[in-house]
Amino acid sequence: RSLLKSDLRGDEIIVVSNREPYIHERTAEGQIKINRPASGLVTAVEPVMRACSGIWIAHGSGSADRDTVDKLDQVAVPPEDPSYQLKRVWLSEEEEAGYYFGFANEGLWPLCHIAHVRPVFRASDWEHYRAVNQRFADAVVSAARTEDPVVLVQDYHFALVPRMVREKLPRATIITFWHIPWPNSESFSICPWRSEIVDGLLGSTILGFHTPYHCKHFTETVDHLLEANIEQEHSTITYGGHQTLVKNYPISIAWPEGAMPPVEACRQELRERIGVGASHLIAIGVDRFDYTKGLIERVSAVAVMLERHPDMIGRFSLVQVAAPTRSSLEEYRTFHERMDKLVQDVNARFGQPGYQPVHLFATHHDAVTLQRYYRAADACMVTSLHDGMNLVCKEFIAARDDERGVLLLSRFAGAADELPDALIINPYSIEDTADALHEALTMSEAEQRDRMRSLRSTVQHNNVYLWAADMLVDAARTRLRERIEARI
Ligand code: G6P
Repeated sequence: RSLLKSDLRGDEIIVVSNREPYIHERTAEGQIKINRPASGLVTAVEPVMRACSGIWIAHGSGSADRDTVDKLDQVAVPPEDPSYQLKRVWLSEEEEAGYYFGFANEGLWPLCHIAHVRPVFRASDWEHYRAVNQRFADAVVSAARTEDPVVLVQDYHFALVPRMVREKLPRATIITFWHIPWPNSESFSICPWRSEIVDGLLGSTILGFHTPYHCKHFTETVDHLLEANIEQEHSTITYGGHQTLVKNYPISIAWPEGAMPPVEACRQELRERIGVGASHLIAIGVDRFDYTKGLIERVSAVAVMLERHPDMIGRFSLVQVAAPTRSSLEEYRTFHERMDKLVQDVNARFGQPGYQPVHLFATHHDAVTLQRYYRAADACMVTSLHDGMNLVCKEFIAARDDERGVLLLSRFAGAADELPDALIINPYSIEDTADALHEALTMSEAEQRDRMRSLRSTVQHNNVYLWAADMLVDAARTRLRERIEARI
Protein backbone atom coordinates (compact mmCIF):
# COMPACT_ATOMS: atom_id res chain seq x y z
CA ARG A 1 0.00 0.00 0.00
CA SER A 2 2.85 2.38 0.78
CA LEU A 3 4.32 1.53 -2.62
CA LEU A 4 1.13 2.85 -4.15
CA LYS A 5 1.45 6.17 -2.33
CA SER A 6 5.06 6.64 -3.35
CA ASP A 7 4.22 5.83 -6.99
CA LEU A 8 1.66 8.59 -7.07
CA ARG A 9 3.68 11.31 -5.35
CA GLY A 10 0.93 13.92 -5.33
CA ASP A 11 -0.59 13.08 -8.73
CA GLU A 12 -4.27 13.79 -9.01
CA ILE A 13 -6.38 10.58 -9.17
CA ILE A 14 -9.85 10.44 -10.70
CA VAL A 15 -11.74 7.12 -10.92
CA VAL A 16 -14.75 6.63 -13.19
CA SER A 17 -17.08 3.65 -12.79
CA ASN A 18 -20.73 2.94 -13.23
CA ARG A 19 -21.28 1.28 -9.86
CA GLU A 20 -20.74 3.47 -6.81
CA PRO A 21 -18.80 2.09 -3.84
CA TYR A 22 -21.39 3.21 -1.29
CA ILE A 23 -25.15 3.32 -1.62
CA HIS A 24 -26.96 5.81 0.61
CA GLU A 25 -30.53 4.74 1.26
CA ARG A 26 -33.15 6.41 3.37
CA THR A 27 -34.88 3.99 5.73
CA ALA A 28 -38.59 4.12 6.62
CA GLU A 29 -37.58 5.96 9.82
CA GLY A 30 -35.86 8.63 7.72
CA GLN A 31 -32.31 7.59 8.65
CA ILE A 32 -29.62 7.21 6.00
CA LYS A 33 -28.32 3.67 5.75
CA ILE A 34 -25.12 2.99 3.84
CA ASN A 35 -24.73 -0.26 1.85
CA ARG A 36 -21.88 -1.76 -0.14
CA PRO A 37 -22.97 -3.16 -3.52
CA ALA A 38 -22.06 -6.66 -4.75
CA SER A 39 -19.51 -5.90 -7.47
CA GLY A 40 -16.09 -7.34 -8.17
CA LEU A 41 -15.03 -3.94 -9.45
CA VAL A 42 -15.97 -2.19 -6.21
CA THR A 43 -14.34 -4.92 -4.08
CA ALA A 44 -11.05 -4.32 -5.89
CA VAL A 45 -10.97 -0.57 -6.53
CA GLU A 46 -12.31 0.63 -3.19
CA PRO A 47 -9.27 -0.33 -1.06
CA VAL A 48 -7.03 1.25 -3.68
CA MET A 49 -8.92 4.54 -3.47
CA ARG A 50 -8.77 4.45 0.32
CA ALA A 51 -5.00 4.28 0.00
CA CYS A 52 -4.65 6.88 -2.79
CA SER A 53 -7.31 9.53 -2.05
CA GLY A 54 -8.75 11.55 -4.93
CA ILE A 55 -12.20 11.57 -6.45
CA TRP A 56 -14.43 8.69 -7.60
CA ILE A 57 -17.13 9.57 -10.11
CA ALA A 58 -20.01 7.05 -10.35
CA HIS A 59 -23.59 6.64 -11.43
CA GLY A 60 -25.79 7.56 -8.48
CA SER A 61 -28.75 5.35 -9.27
CA GLY A 62 -28.04 2.96 -6.45
CA SER A 63 -28.68 5.78 -4.03
CA ALA A 64 -32.38 5.27 -4.18
CA ASP A 65 -33.75 8.34 -2.50
CA ARG A 66 -33.58 11.05 -5.11
CA ASP A 67 -34.83 13.63 -2.59
CA THR A 68 -31.43 13.55 -0.99
CA VAL A 69 -29.67 14.26 -4.28
CA ASP A 70 -28.44 17.70 -3.31
CA LYS A 71 -26.91 16.61 -0.08
CA LEU A 72 -25.37 13.48 -1.54
CA ASP A 73 -24.10 14.86 -4.82
CA GLN A 74 -20.64 14.64 -3.43
CA VAL A 75 -19.73 12.88 -0.19
CA ALA A 76 -16.53 12.04 1.61
CA VAL A 77 -16.16 8.29 2.04
CA PRO A 78 -15.58 5.69 3.49
CA PRO A 79 -18.13 6.81 6.07
CA GLU A 80 -16.10 5.55 9.05
CA ASP A 81 -12.82 7.14 7.93
CA PRO A 82 -13.21 9.52 4.98
CA SER A 83 -10.24 9.50 2.66
CA TYR A 84 -11.64 10.27 -0.81
CA GLN A 85 -14.58 12.01 -2.48
CA LEU A 86 -17.49 10.18 -4.11
CA LYS A 87 -19.11 12.31 -6.80
CA ARG A 88 -22.34 11.11 -8.34
CA VAL A 89 -23.62 11.62 -11.86
CA TRP A 90 -27.41 11.33 -11.83
CA LEU A 91 -28.99 9.73 -14.86
CA SER A 92 -32.60 9.90 -15.95
CA GLU A 93 -34.57 6.65 -16.12
CA GLU A 94 -34.37 6.81 -19.89
CA GLU A 95 -30.60 7.24 -19.88
CA GLU A 96 -30.23 4.38 -17.43
CA ALA A 97 -32.49 2.12 -19.51
CA GLY A 98 -30.52 2.76 -22.70
CA TYR A 99 -26.95 3.04 -21.46
CA TYR A 100 -26.85 0.65 -18.47
CA PHE A 101 -29.60 -1.94 -18.90
CA GLY A 102 -29.57 -1.73 -22.68
CA PHE A 103 -26.20 -1.31 -24.37
CA ALA A 104 -23.96 -2.25 -21.42
CA ASN A 105 -25.93 -5.19 -20.04
CA GLU A 106 -27.94 -6.53 -22.97
CA GLY A 107 -25.25 -5.74 -25.54
CA LEU A 108 -21.68 -5.72 -24.23
CA TRP A 109 -22.12 -8.08 -21.26
CA PRO A 110 -23.35 -11.10 -23.29
CA LEU A 111 -21.07 -10.11 -26.19
CA CYS A 112 -17.96 -10.42 -24.01
CA HIS A 113 -19.00 -13.44 -21.90
CA ILE A 114 -19.35 -16.76 -23.65
CA ALA A 115 -22.54 -17.85 -21.89
CA HIS A 116 -24.52 -18.39 -25.07
CA VAL A 117 -26.90 -15.54 -24.39
CA ARG A 118 -27.47 -13.56 -27.54
CA PRO A 119 -26.49 -9.89 -27.30
CA VAL A 120 -29.12 -7.29 -28.20
CA PHE A 121 -27.99 -4.17 -30.06
CA ARG A 122 -30.46 -1.30 -30.34
CA ALA A 123 -29.48 1.96 -32.01
CA SER A 124 -31.35 3.91 -29.33
CA ASP A 125 -29.35 2.17 -26.55
CA TRP A 126 -26.14 3.00 -28.33
CA GLU A 127 -27.15 6.67 -28.54
CA HIS A 128 -27.73 6.73 -24.78
CA TYR A 129 -24.48 4.88 -24.17
CA ARG A 130 -22.58 7.49 -26.17
CA ALA A 131 -24.36 10.42 -24.53
CA VAL A 132 -23.84 9.03 -21.00
CA ASN A 133 -20.16 8.34 -21.75
CA GLN A 134 -19.90 12.01 -22.78
CA ARG A 135 -21.54 13.08 -19.51
CA PHE A 136 -18.99 11.11 -17.48
CA ALA A 137 -16.10 12.37 -19.60
CA ASP A 138 -17.32 15.93 -18.97
CA ALA A 139 -17.55 15.17 -15.26
CA VAL A 140 -13.90 14.05 -15.31
CA VAL A 141 -12.82 17.18 -17.14
CA SER A 142 -14.64 19.47 -14.75
CA ALA A 143 -13.33 17.58 -11.70
CA ALA A 144 -9.72 17.83 -12.91
CA ARG A 145 -7.63 20.48 -11.13
CA THR A 146 -4.53 19.92 -13.29
CA GLU A 147 -4.07 19.33 -17.00
CA ASP A 148 -2.45 15.94 -16.48
CA PRO A 149 -4.50 14.01 -13.93
CA VAL A 150 -4.32 10.22 -13.63
CA VAL A 151 -7.75 9.01 -14.71
CA LEU A 152 -8.75 5.43 -13.92
CA VAL A 153 -11.61 4.41 -16.21
CA GLN A 154 -13.37 1.22 -15.12
CA ASP A 155 -15.06 -1.36 -17.29
CA TYR A 156 -17.38 -1.94 -20.22
CA HIS A 157 -19.77 0.85 -19.29
CA PHE A 158 -17.25 3.45 -20.43
CA ALA A 159 -15.48 2.31 -23.58
CA LEU A 160 -15.79 5.77 -25.14
CA VAL A 161 -14.66 7.80 -22.12
CA PRO A 162 -10.88 7.45 -22.70
CA ARG A 163 -11.06 9.06 -26.17
CA MET A 164 -13.51 11.73 -24.96
CA VAL A 165 -11.29 12.71 -22.02
CA ARG A 166 -8.17 12.66 -24.20
CA GLU A 167 -9.79 15.21 -26.56
CA LYS A 168 -10.16 17.72 -23.73
CA LEU A 169 -7.14 16.78 -21.61
CA PRO A 170 -4.48 15.59 -24.09
CA ARG A 171 -1.86 15.29 -21.34
CA ALA A 172 -3.94 13.14 -18.99
CA THR A 173 -2.68 9.68 -18.09
CA ILE A 174 -5.70 7.50 -18.74
CA ILE A 175 -5.58 3.98 -17.34
CA THR A 176 -8.56 1.92 -18.47
CA PHE A 177 -9.31 -1.45 -16.97
CA TRP A 178 -11.71 -3.85 -18.67
CA HIS A 179 -13.08 -6.03 -15.85
CA ILE A 180 -14.77 -8.62 -18.06
CA PRO A 181 -13.36 -10.92 -20.77
CA TRP A 182 -12.66 -9.69 -24.31
CA PRO A 183 -13.99 -12.16 -26.91
CA ASN A 184 -12.19 -13.23 -30.08
CA SER A 185 -12.30 -10.73 -32.94
CA GLU A 186 -14.87 -12.67 -34.96
CA SER A 187 -17.31 -12.76 -32.04
CA PHE A 188 -16.70 -9.10 -31.27
CA SER A 189 -17.33 -8.07 -34.85
CA ILE A 190 -21.09 -8.70 -34.57
CA CYS A 191 -21.33 -5.45 -32.59
CA PRO A 192 -22.51 -2.76 -35.02
CA TRP A 193 -20.37 -0.14 -33.20
CA ARG A 194 -17.24 -2.28 -32.90
CA SER A 195 -14.89 0.30 -34.45
CA GLU A 196 -16.18 3.15 -32.30
CA ILE A 197 -15.67 1.06 -29.14
CA VAL A 198 -12.15 0.05 -30.02
CA ASP A 199 -11.29 3.60 -31.08
CA GLY A 200 -12.70 4.92 -27.77
CA LEU A 201 -10.54 2.52 -25.75
CA LEU A 202 -7.41 3.46 -27.70
CA GLY A 203 -7.66 6.94 -26.18
CA SER A 204 -6.14 5.27 -23.08
CA THR A 205 -2.50 5.49 -22.06
CA ILE A 206 -2.76 1.99 -20.62
CA LEU A 207 -5.48 -0.53 -21.35
CA GLY A 208 -5.56 -3.39 -18.87
CA PHE A 209 -7.19 -6.82 -19.01
CA HIS A 210 -7.09 -9.69 -16.52
CA THR A 211 -5.32 -12.26 -18.69
CA PRO A 212 -2.83 -12.37 -21.60
CA TYR A 213 -5.57 -14.15 -23.54
CA HIS A 214 -7.94 -11.17 -23.32
CA CYS A 215 -5.08 -8.85 -24.40
CA LYS A 216 -4.41 -11.07 -27.42
CA HIS A 217 -8.09 -11.03 -28.39
CA PHE A 218 -8.23 -7.25 -28.10
CA THR A 219 -5.09 -6.76 -30.18
CA GLU A 220 -6.43 -9.06 -32.89
CA THR A 221 -9.72 -7.15 -32.86
CA VAL A 222 -7.83 -3.89 -33.43
CA ASP A 223 -5.82 -5.53 -36.19
CA HIS A 224 -9.01 -6.47 -38.01
CA LEU A 225 -10.80 -3.18 -37.55
CA LEU A 226 -8.34 -0.31 -37.68
CA GLU A 227 -5.22 0.81 -39.49
CA ALA A 228 -3.11 0.72 -36.36
CA ASN A 229 0.53 -0.04 -35.73
CA ILE A 230 0.80 -3.03 -33.40
CA GLU A 231 4.14 -3.68 -31.75
CA GLN A 232 3.83 -7.15 -30.25
CA GLU A 233 7.13 -7.15 -28.41
CA HIS A 234 6.34 -3.92 -26.53
CA SER A 235 2.61 -4.70 -26.20
CA THR A 236 1.76 -1.32 -27.68
CA ILE A 237 -0.74 -0.13 -30.25
CA THR A 238 -0.23 3.19 -31.98
CA TYR A 239 -3.29 4.68 -33.57
CA GLY A 240 -3.86 8.24 -34.76
CA GLY A 241 -0.44 9.26 -33.42
CA HIS A 242 -1.24 8.09 -29.89
CA GLN A 243 0.29 5.06 -28.21
CA THR A 244 -1.54 2.68 -25.86
CA LEU A 245 0.11 0.00 -23.75
CA VAL A 246 -2.12 -3.12 -23.76
CA LYS A 247 -1.19 -5.39 -20.87
CA ASN A 248 -2.60 -7.89 -18.42
CA TYR A 249 -2.93 -6.95 -14.77
CA PRO A 250 -4.68 -9.71 -12.80
CA ILE A 251 -7.01 -8.04 -10.34
CA SER A 252 -7.26 -9.13 -6.73
CA ILE A 253 -8.50 -8.30 -3.25
CA ALA A 254 -7.02 -6.53 -0.23
CA TRP A 255 -5.52 -9.22 2.01
CA PRO A 256 -7.48 -9.05 5.29
CA GLU A 257 -5.79 -7.61 8.34
CA GLY A 258 -6.61 -8.37 11.96
CA ALA A 259 -8.16 -11.33 13.72
CA MET A 260 -10.97 -13.36 12.16
CA PRO A 261 -13.90 -14.85 14.07
CA PRO A 262 -13.26 -18.40 15.38
CA VAL A 263 -13.97 -21.07 12.75
CA GLU A 264 -15.98 -23.18 15.21
CA ALA A 265 -18.40 -20.31 15.89
CA CYS A 266 -18.80 -19.67 12.15
CA ARG A 267 -19.44 -23.36 11.43
CA GLN A 268 -22.06 -23.57 14.16
CA GLU A 269 -23.81 -20.38 13.10
CA LEU A 270 -24.24 -21.44 9.44
CA ARG A 271 -25.34 -24.96 10.39
CA GLU A 272 -27.91 -23.49 12.77
CA ARG A 273 -29.19 -21.25 10.01
CA ILE A 274 -29.92 -24.26 7.80
CA GLY A 275 -31.04 -26.47 10.69
CA VAL A 276 -28.38 -29.20 10.57
CA GLY A 277 -25.89 -30.74 12.99
CA ALA A 278 -22.22 -29.99 13.61
CA SER A 279 -20.83 -32.65 11.26
CA HIS A 280 -22.94 -31.65 8.25
CA LEU A 281 -20.81 -30.94 5.17
CA ILE A 282 -21.37 -27.60 3.43
CA ALA A 283 -20.23 -26.17 0.10
CA ILE A 284 -20.69 -22.43 -0.25
CA GLY A 285 -21.42 -20.46 -3.42
CA VAL A 286 -21.45 -16.66 -3.46
CA ASP A 287 -22.36 -14.81 -6.65
CA ARG A 288 -24.47 -12.13 -8.16
CA PHE A 289 -27.62 -13.78 -9.52
CA ASP A 290 -26.20 -13.77 -13.04
CA TYR A 291 -26.47 -16.25 -15.90
CA THR A 292 -22.68 -16.16 -16.42
CA LYS A 293 -21.98 -17.68 -13.00
CA GLY A 294 -22.89 -21.27 -13.82
CA LEU A 295 -25.48 -21.58 -11.05
CA ILE A 296 -27.72 -24.03 -12.93
CA GLU A 297 -24.68 -26.20 -13.67
CA ARG A 298 -23.63 -26.00 -9.99
CA VAL A 299 -26.97 -27.20 -8.64
CA SER A 300 -27.13 -29.88 -11.33
CA ALA A 301 -23.68 -31.09 -10.25
CA VAL A 302 -24.90 -31.31 -6.65
CA ALA A 303 -27.78 -33.51 -7.85
CA VAL A 304 -25.44 -35.80 -9.79
CA MET A 305 -23.06 -36.03 -6.84
CA LEU A 306 -25.95 -37.10 -4.54
CA GLU A 307 -27.12 -39.59 -7.12
CA ARG A 308 -23.64 -41.12 -7.40
CA HIS A 309 -22.97 -41.03 -3.67
CA PRO A 310 -26.24 -41.65 -1.84
CA ASP A 311 -24.33 -41.76 1.47
CA MET A 312 -24.04 -37.96 1.07
CA ILE A 313 -27.82 -37.50 1.13
CA GLY A 314 -28.72 -35.96 4.48
CA ARG A 315 -25.03 -35.20 5.16
CA PHE A 316 -24.26 -32.49 2.61
CA SER A 317 -25.81 -29.19 1.48
CA LEU A 318 -24.92 -26.41 -0.92
CA VAL A 319 -25.53 -22.95 0.55
CA GLN A 320 -25.86 -20.57 -2.38
CA VAL A 321 -25.88 -16.82 -1.77
CA ALA A 322 -27.10 -15.00 -4.89
CA ALA A 323 -27.26 -11.21 -4.75
CA PRO A 324 -30.03 -9.87 -7.00
CA THR A 325 -28.67 -7.94 -9.98
CA ARG A 326 -30.06 -6.21 -13.12
CA SER A 327 -33.45 -7.70 -12.21
CA SER A 328 -35.45 -5.51 -14.53
CA LEU A 329 -33.95 -7.37 -17.52
CA GLU A 330 -36.00 -10.24 -18.92
CA GLU A 331 -32.96 -12.52 -19.28
CA TYR A 332 -32.17 -12.15 -15.55
CA ARG A 333 -35.77 -12.69 -14.47
CA THR A 334 -36.10 -15.85 -16.57
CA PHE A 335 -32.81 -17.11 -15.23
CA HIS A 336 -33.98 -16.51 -11.65
CA GLU A 337 -37.15 -18.50 -12.34
CA ARG A 338 -35.23 -21.40 -13.92
CA MET A 339 -32.93 -21.51 -10.95
CA ASP A 340 -35.77 -21.42 -8.39
CA LYS A 341 -37.47 -24.27 -10.22
CA LEU A 342 -34.29 -26.39 -10.36
CA VAL A 343 -33.58 -25.86 -6.66
CA GLN A 344 -37.14 -26.92 -5.84
CA ASP A 345 -36.81 -30.05 -7.98
CA VAL A 346 -33.47 -31.07 -6.48
CA ASN A 347 -34.78 -30.45 -2.96
CA ALA A 348 -37.93 -32.44 -3.69
CA ARG A 349 -35.85 -35.30 -5.07
CA PHE A 350 -33.19 -35.60 -2.38
CA GLY A 351 -34.67 -33.69 0.57
CA GLN A 352 -35.85 -35.33 3.78
CA PRO A 353 -37.68 -33.93 6.76
CA GLY A 354 -35.30 -31.35 8.26
CA TYR A 355 -32.87 -31.65 5.33
CA GLN A 356 -32.52 -29.72 2.10
CA PRO A 357 -29.57 -30.35 -0.24
CA VAL A 358 -29.70 -26.80 -1.64
CA HIS A 359 -30.34 -23.57 0.25
CA LEU A 360 -30.69 -20.56 -2.01
CA PHE A 361 -30.42 -17.20 -0.26
CA ALA A 362 -31.32 -14.73 -2.97
CA THR A 363 -30.53 -11.56 -1.02
CA HIS A 364 -27.59 -9.25 -0.56
CA HIS A 365 -25.19 -10.32 2.24
CA ASP A 366 -22.60 -7.99 3.76
CA ALA A 367 -18.87 -8.71 3.68
CA VAL A 368 -18.66 -9.61 7.38
CA THR A 369 -21.37 -12.28 7.03
CA LEU A 370 -19.79 -13.64 3.86
CA GLN A 371 -16.44 -14.01 5.56
CA ARG A 372 -18.13 -16.05 8.32
CA TYR A 373 -19.79 -18.26 5.69
CA TYR A 374 -16.52 -18.84 3.89
CA ARG A 375 -14.95 -19.92 7.17
CA ALA A 376 -17.87 -22.22 7.92
CA ALA A 377 -17.70 -24.13 4.63
CA ASP A 378 -15.93 -27.36 3.70
CA ALA A 379 -15.75 -26.32 0.05
CA CYS A 380 -16.40 -23.28 -2.12
CA MET A 381 -17.85 -23.67 -5.62
CA VAL A 382 -16.95 -21.16 -8.34
CA THR A 383 -18.44 -22.58 -11.54
CA SER A 384 -18.63 -19.50 -13.81
CA LEU A 385 -19.29 -20.26 -17.45
CA HIS A 386 -17.02 -17.30 -18.18
CA ASP A 387 -15.62 -14.69 -15.83
CA GLY A 388 -13.04 -11.91 -16.25
CA MET A 389 -11.27 -12.83 -13.00
CA ASN A 390 -13.74 -13.78 -10.21
CA LEU A 391 -12.90 -12.42 -6.79
CA VAL A 392 -15.12 -14.73 -4.73
CA CYS A 393 -12.51 -17.49 -4.98
CA LYS A 394 -9.86 -15.08 -3.71
CA GLU A 395 -12.09 -13.95 -0.82
CA PHE A 396 -12.68 -17.58 0.15
CA ILE A 397 -8.92 -18.25 0.16
CA ALA A 398 -8.23 -15.10 2.18
CA ALA A 399 -10.83 -16.13 4.77
CA ARG A 400 -9.20 -19.53 5.40
CA ASP A 401 -6.32 -18.79 7.77
CA ASP A 402 -7.07 -22.25 9.23
CA GLU A 403 -5.74 -23.68 5.93
CA ARG A 404 -8.83 -25.85 5.50
CA GLY A 405 -11.55 -25.94 2.89
CA VAL A 406 -11.34 -26.83 -0.80
CA LEU A 407 -11.85 -24.50 -3.74
CA LEU A 408 -13.54 -25.75 -6.91
CA LEU A 409 -12.74 -23.27 -9.65
CA SER A 410 -13.98 -22.98 -13.21
CA ARG A 411 -11.25 -23.07 -15.83
CA PHE A 412 -13.19 -20.28 -17.58
CA ALA A 413 -12.59 -17.78 -14.76
CA GLY A 414 -9.48 -15.62 -15.22
CA ALA A 415 -8.44 -16.69 -11.69
CA ALA A 416 -7.79 -20.26 -12.88
CA ASP A 417 -4.53 -19.07 -14.51
CA GLU A 418 -3.19 -17.95 -11.15
CA LEU A 419 -4.66 -20.64 -8.89
CA PRO A 420 -3.81 -24.07 -10.36
CA ASP A 421 -3.88 -25.66 -6.89
CA ALA A 422 -7.64 -25.31 -6.72
CA LEU A 423 -9.67 -28.22 -8.12
CA ILE A 424 -10.04 -26.86 -11.64
CA ILE A 425 -13.31 -27.88 -13.26
CA ASN A 426 -15.20 -27.49 -16.52
CA PRO A 427 -18.67 -26.36 -15.42
CA TYR A 428 -20.15 -27.54 -18.71
CA SER A 429 -19.34 -31.10 -17.63
CA ILE A 430 -21.86 -31.70 -14.86
CA GLU A 431 -20.39 -35.17 -14.19
CA ASP A 432 -16.81 -33.93 -13.78
CA THR A 433 -17.98 -31.12 -11.52
CA ALA A 434 -19.96 -33.63 -9.43
CA ASP A 435 -16.86 -35.83 -9.09
CA ALA A 436 -14.71 -32.85 -8.13
CA LEU A 437 -17.27 -31.85 -5.48
CA HIS A 438 -17.12 -35.35 -4.02
CA GLU A 439 -13.34 -35.26 -4.11
CA ALA A 440 -13.41 -31.93 -2.24
CA LEU A 441 -15.76 -33.25 0.44
CA THR A 442 -13.60 -36.32 1.07
CA MET A 443 -10.17 -34.73 0.72
CA SER A 444 -7.66 -35.46 3.49
CA GLU A 445 -6.77 -32.67 5.87
CA ALA A 446 -3.14 -32.83 4.77
CA GLU A 447 -4.02 -32.29 1.11
CA GLN A 448 -6.43 -29.48 1.97
CA ARG A 449 -3.65 -27.80 3.93
CA ASP A 450 -1.06 -28.13 1.16
CA ARG A 451 -3.41 -26.76 -1.46
CA MET A 452 -4.74 -23.96 0.70
CA ARG A 453 -1.24 -22.93 1.78
CA SER A 454 -0.17 -22.58 -1.82
CA LEU A 455 -3.33 -20.67 -2.80
CA ARG A 456 -2.97 -18.35 0.16
CA SER A 457 0.62 -17.43 -0.59
CA THR A 458 -0.38 -16.54 -4.17
CA VAL A 459 -3.33 -14.32 -3.22
CA GLN A 460 -1.52 -12.70 -0.31
CA HIS A 461 1.31 -11.70 -2.62
CA ASN A 462 -0.74 -10.86 -5.74
CA ASN A 463 -3.06 -8.57 -3.83
CA VAL A 464 -5.02 -5.62 -5.17
CA TYR A 465 -2.36 -3.09 -4.18
CA LEU A 466 0.08 -4.90 -6.43
CA TRP A 467 -2.54 -4.80 -9.22
CA ALA A 468 -2.89 -1.04 -8.87
CA ALA A 469 0.80 -0.41 -8.25
CA ASP A 470 1.79 -2.34 -11.41
CA MET A 471 -0.46 -0.16 -13.54
CA LEU A 472 0.67 3.02 -11.82
CA VAL A 473 4.36 2.15 -12.18
CA ASP A 474 3.78 1.60 -15.92
CA ALA A 475 1.90 4.89 -16.05
CA ALA A 476 4.68 6.73 -14.21
CA ARG A 477 7.22 5.44 -16.76
CA THR A 478 5.06 6.68 -19.61
CA ARG A 479 4.63 10.09 -17.99
CA LEU A 480 8.36 10.41 -17.57
CA ARG A 481 9.04 9.42 -21.18
CA GLU A 482 6.41 11.88 -22.43
CA ARG A 483 8.01 14.71 -20.43
CA ILE A 484 11.45 13.85 -21.82
CA GLU A 485 10.13 13.69 -25.40
CA ALA A 486 8.33 17.01 -24.98
CA ARG A 487 11.69 18.67 -24.23
CA ILE A 488 13.48 17.22 -27.27
C1 G6P B 1 -19.17 -7.09 -12.82
C2 G6P B 1 -18.81 -5.88 -13.64
C3 G6P B 1 -18.85 -4.65 -12.80
C4 G6P B 1 -20.18 -4.53 -12.11
C5 G6P B 1 -20.48 -5.79 -11.32
C6 G6P B 1 -21.87 -5.74 -10.68
O1 G6P B 1 -18.18 -7.33 -11.87
O2 G6P B 1 -17.55 -6.05 -14.25
O3 G6P B 1 -18.66 -3.50 -13.57
O4 G6P B 1 -20.22 -3.43 -11.24
O5 G6P B 1 -20.41 -6.90 -12.18
O6 G6P B 1 -22.87 -5.51 -11.62
P1 G6P B 1 -23.81 -4.24 -11.57
O7 G6P B 1 -24.48 -4.21 -12.89
O8 G6P B 1 -24.73 -4.49 -10.42
O9 G6P B 1 -22.94 -3.04 -11.31
